[in-house]
Amino acid sequence: MSFTFNPINEEKIKKLWGEYPKKESLTLPMLWMAQYQEGWITPEAIRTIAARLELSPSHLFGIATFYTMFRLSAVGTYHIELCQTLSCALCGKDALIEHLGKKWGIRPGETTEDGRFTLSLVECLGGCGGAPMLSLNETYHENVTPESLDALLEGLS
Ligand code: FES
Repeated sequence: MSFTFNPINEEKIKKLWGEYPKKESLTLPMLWMAQYQEGWITPEAIRTIAARLELSPSHLFGIATFYTMFRLSAVGTYHIELCQTLSCALCGKDALIEHLGKKWGIRPGETTEDGRFTLSLVECLGGCGGAPMLSLNETYHENVTPESLDALLEGLS
């Protein structure tokens, strides 16, 4: 299976190409575009980006695995990224993980059988003042409790 950027992303790449002094500087923007386009960064996308930037696929893979915001496998329709760093750990992230396991049937790294929800644990998202917090499809939710989490998930179509 091959990967190509869609025309909108190709246009963005064309514009960025002239703005950076080195091709390698487009690594992160191109990984983001691949993720938004496909929902995750496929191995084919890594090979394609590496070839275009004249880098090795292993170099690209190393970058994609360093940043927890890059997804290297498909996720459900709703991606729950629960912060596991200190403030959120102290304020109840374990209770949320336990609740998600019991009520919703997902543990960290898993997707529900119907493909609706994926739970990932991530490092600090910068919302420590509202710990425990999570990002749901990139929208932050703070001071999350098992009850507020249920209301949030049950309210999704
Ligand atoms: S520790 Fe959870 S957002 Fe910072």
